[in-house]
Amino acid sequence: MVAWLFSIFLALASCLCTKAACPMPRTIHPCTCETMTDETGDDFSIIHCHNLHSEEDLTRILAATKKHIIFELQLVDCILRYLPHSAFEDTTFEVFSIHNSTLRTLSDDTVAFKGLEKNLHLIEVINCTFVSDWDWSQLQNLKHLMEIHVSHSELVDLTDSISKIQHLDDIEGFSFTQNKIEVLEENVFAPFFFLQRLTLDHNYIKQLKRSMLPSRAEHLQILGLSYNYLKTLPADMFLGMPALRSLYLTGNPLYTIDEAVFKPVWNQLHLFLFYGTPLSCDCRLIWLTKADNSKKFIHAECYGPASFKGRPLHSVQPHELWC
Ligand SMILES: *[C@@H]1O[C@H](CO)[C@@H](O)[C@H](O)[C@H]1NC(C)=O
Ligand SMILES: *[C@@H]1O[C@H](CO)[C@@H](O)[C@H](O)[C@H]1NC(C)=O
Repeated sequence: MVAWLFSIFLALASCLCTKAACPMPRTIHPCTCETMTDETGDDFSIIHCHNLHSEEDLTRILAATKKHIIFELQLVDCILRYLPHSAFEDTTFEVFSIHNSTLRTLSDDTVAFKGLEKNLHLIEVINCTFVSDWDWSQLQNLKHLMEIHVSHSELVDLTDSISKIQHLDDIEGFSFTQNKIEVLEENVFAPFFFLQRLTLDHNYIKQLKRSMLPSRAEHLQILGLSYNYLKTLPADMFLGMPALRSLYLTGNPLYTIDEAVFKPVWNQLHLFLFYGTPLSCDCRLIWLTKADNSKKFIHAECYGPASFKGRPLHSVQPHELWC
């Protein structure tokens, strides 16, 4: 009986101390805290900060959140030189998001987010300036980081500083959409063996190399390359991608779907987006129209020759094609 009561007490106690709870509003002013309930009925809290212009203010606010279980820190319209590296000690954020803000560097030290090594799962950056100057290797201590999203920012290149966070085995997703990326370092994503999703849509990428991705990309399911300046893809582009299911190539200046390039993954794809391209429906596509495409969603349209213009690719029969 005593043991039974004790176990109930323990269950209650652990339940109490893991409960999401906001700090007193005045302690985090001008930021606010909100507790919400997710689909599974669990509570989670988010701190929103608007218009923070000093690192000292951020440090003070984060100090007030220590010992509270807060899921997300959201900074909006902030202007900061750096994120004070020690301000996160004893905080519990799993998500850090920053929107419409200026942040010159991720940290004032060699590591960022000290204290969140086991917590931080997602970093989300939308419409921020100076992102191109960030040193991604400052994230190297975040052992449980799973995703990085950067969009609508002035990111122009992805250098090898991102590869330096390579021991982050947990990284499952990188999303760098709607930036100005032109240059990708030779081996930029190669170390991320567990990568499941990589989206680079809406950038200025002209050239890809297979070496940019893990040589055995065993887990890669989604590859987003829409709306770039790709005219060709290297012949080995899709080798070693046994898990690839969704491929987005919409809006690139690609004239054909080259058998040598696409054959290795064609049968395994579930989703293939290739519209908004100058696709020429000619004999080079016979291989593809002969394949079993019944379990695939293909959105691609012929651009030429004239008699094919506007025809959905999936309606084209092999015998119609000529060169
Ligand atoms: C981007 O952020 C700036 C503030 O830094 C804001 O003025 C602008 O409207 C935002 N643009 C978009 C597209 O969200
Ligand atoms: C960023 O700015 C844009 C444009 O002003 C606005 O629509 C958007 O809601 C802002 N983002 C956030 C998170 O407030």
